[in-house]
Amino acid sequence: MTRDIKNHLLFEVATEVANRVGGIYSVLKSKAPITVAEYKDRYTLIGPLSYDSANVEVEELAVHDPKLKLTLDSMGARGIKYLYGRWLIDGAPRVLLFDLNSALHHLNEWKADLWNISGIPTPDHDFETNNAIILGYLVAWFLGELSYHDQEHAMICHCHEWLAGVCLPLCRKRQIDVTTIFTTHATLLGRYLCAGSVDFYNNLDKFDVDKEAGKRGIYHRYCIERAAVHSADVFTTVSHITAYESEHLLKRKPDGVLPNGLNVVKFQAVHEFQNLHAEKKEKINEFIRGHFYGQLDFKLSNTLYFFIAGRYEYRNKGADLFIEALARLNHRLKESGSKMTVVAFIIMPAATKSYTVETLKGQAVIKQLETTIKDVQSLMGKRLFEFCQNPINCQSSQKVKLPEIDDLVKPSDRVILKRRMFALKRDTLPPIVTHNMVDDANDPILNQIRNVQLFNQKADRVKIIFHPEFLNSNNPILGLDYDEFVRGCHCGIFPSYYEPWGYTPAECTVMGCPSVTTNLSGFGCYMEDLIENPADYGIYVVDRRMKSVDESIEQLTNYMLEFTKKSRRQRINQRNRVERLSDLLDWKRMGLEYVKARALALKRAYPDQFSNTKADNPFEMDHNIKISRPLSAPGSPRDRSNSLNNPMTPGDLGTLQENNSTNDYFSWNLPGERENDDEDNTDEDR
Ligand code: UDP
Ligand code: G6P
Ligand code: GLC
Repeated sequence: MTRDIKNHLLFEVATEVANRVGGIYSVLKSKAPITVAEYKDRYTLIGPLSYDSANVEVEELAVHDPKLKLTLDSMGARGIKYLYGRWLIDGAPRVLLFDLNSALHHLNEWKADLWNISGIPTPDHDFETNNAIILGYLVAWFLGELSYHDQEHAMICHCHEWLAGVCLPLCRKRQIDVTTIFTTHATLLGRYLCAGSVDFYNNLDKFDVDKEAGKRGIYHRYCIERAAVHSADVFTTVSHITAYESEHLLKRKPDGVLPNGLNVVKFQAVHEFQNLHAEKKEKINEFIRGHFYGQLDFKLSNTLYFFIAGRYEYRNKGADLFIEALARLNHRLKESGSKMTVVAFIIMPAATKSYTVETLKGQAVIKQLETTIKDVQSLMGKRLFEFCQNPINCQSSQKVKLPEIDDLVKPSDRVILKRRMFALKRDTLPPIVTHNMVDDANDPILNQIRNVQLFNQKADRVKIIFHPEFLNSNNPILGLDYDEFVRGCHCGIFPSYYEPWGYTPAECTVMGCPSVTTNLSGFGCYMEDLIENPADYGIYVVDRRMKSVDESIEQLTNYMLEFTKKSRRQRINQRNRVERLSDLLDWKRMGLEYVKARALALKRAYPDQFSNTKADNPFEMDHNIKISRPLSAPGSPRDRSNSLNNPMTPGDLGTLQENNSTNDYFSWNLPGERENDDEDNTDEDR
């Protein structure tokens, strides 16, 4: 059958569509503007319907496309509930979210079918796997019907991660006329093995994968992941380090690497993001005043905010390394009599019951003190005014009486001020954790903080605050969204051991916040590949590959110690330099690898429609193409984009195995975007 491949439809399937869990949500959300710019309404994201988040993130739309309507009506007639709408983010892509519960009655039948067609066993009580199966069967059902009703367009189904991968063997088995891409953002075995105490990277080629998966009770999940990998037309992952891992653990060499980008928003002038830093830091200062009430004996102007953030994977995300390095940093700062204080935040969601009373009290007493002072201030102003305008106090130019403090602050004011100051007294140390934990005694982060005795003592130069919940601006104690928090901080510390990409340091970069990453993270490796000395640009790469654990901790401690020695001026300069790297991470550049993967998928499914001459290539874009903007970063990044026709993206470090003709870097003009937005690049450094 001949389908129109130029105007093909694109479906991206993932469990994090309009539902934040971790980095995959960031991929889909930040990529939406460029994908919508390319595909318009030919692009739809598919995922499970989570009512809580969909209620706030998705606006329902009527289904107008007749073929889509036929398909969805037919599924609806068989009891399947779904939400079709617009995801309320930049780009406003269309989403189709299936209510998995509405298909729950099919679960056993589908499990049996999965076993029959692919030999994948599925135990009863694995909730995540059950959901993956339901999602996979619903997507295959949807694509099967749609490709029957719509015989005009070619279709690409791009699935992210094993949880969204069950539809891939089904599409292959049922010979549904779609071409498929599978992108893995980690391997199951990689995550599990690294979380234990295994020397992972030195043994990648030696693991008996089935046995290891079996030992960890994830054999069935592993089978799903491996089936997805092997039945997709094109298999990709997010970094070279994970490509290497996938080849060994999943037994297929990825066709290419699809690195993660960000939706980079440029400010008109550099000082704007510096101002934002000062503004957001003041908000963090407010929180600190409350948290350390009664014991705030360090100067906030000499305080640095460091943080680690992400899903709670104690070892994989390097929380273990961070805490140990903080203890060493504390020791060194004390020893050297440094005037600097470091407040280290750990933002990793864990099971909690509520905020601790101490945490709430801290914010409350500081707010009360602030309000009382404002009241007294206003009364003092009124009294001062009355005093000065009273003729008794100014009988002649020689006889002017100025007010005494008692004329301005009355006994009633003193009483209330004293009460507020008494309320600030405390016998306890400022808490190391903001919430009551469900399992306080066994929490690995708390236990390590206890081991290294970082208890926020007065003498400590490193203070620690574990906030076991993601941030958001409605939070009653630290009312900032995560990106505002990042802007207010001085350095993000992400010493991961297992990190296929690692959005957190990349996000820091585009927000002009220096960060620490590792040479075991996709992002860290990418930066090392592109930049001669990433540390010059405020990206510190800890060596976790060739060094022992102790040496890595030492290296991290030294990075942090050096950071505390920087002057304010140096910190400001460094933020400018970090921010200048953001072009390297822009989806308008990284998105090219997605274009290549899709071209390859179509080429594999419809080889006859591709010819080797560029003119016949259905992907030749004859409108709206422009060459990438020149990078504003100075000379040192080892970036081939100086040659305009052939810039480097991480995908270039390896190659898609079949040659695509998308060898020029191009980007789409997004609606309302000015072409020379980045020309205005004043630079305090130069
Ligand atoms: N994040 C967030 N709120 C927070 C802390 C982190 O939304 O309070 C996000 C962060 O912006 C990042 C994601 O969590 O996009 C973590 O992604 P990453 O790729 O670093 O790790 P993953 O969790 O996917 O392994
Ligand atoms: C920004 C602001 C400056 C402020 C500085 C503080 O650059 O524009 O006004 O002095 O941040 O930097 P620091 O690293 O000390 O938080
Ligand atoms: C995964 C990885 C993370 C990556 C994210 C997005 O969750 O753990 O490193 O950044 O996916 O690709």
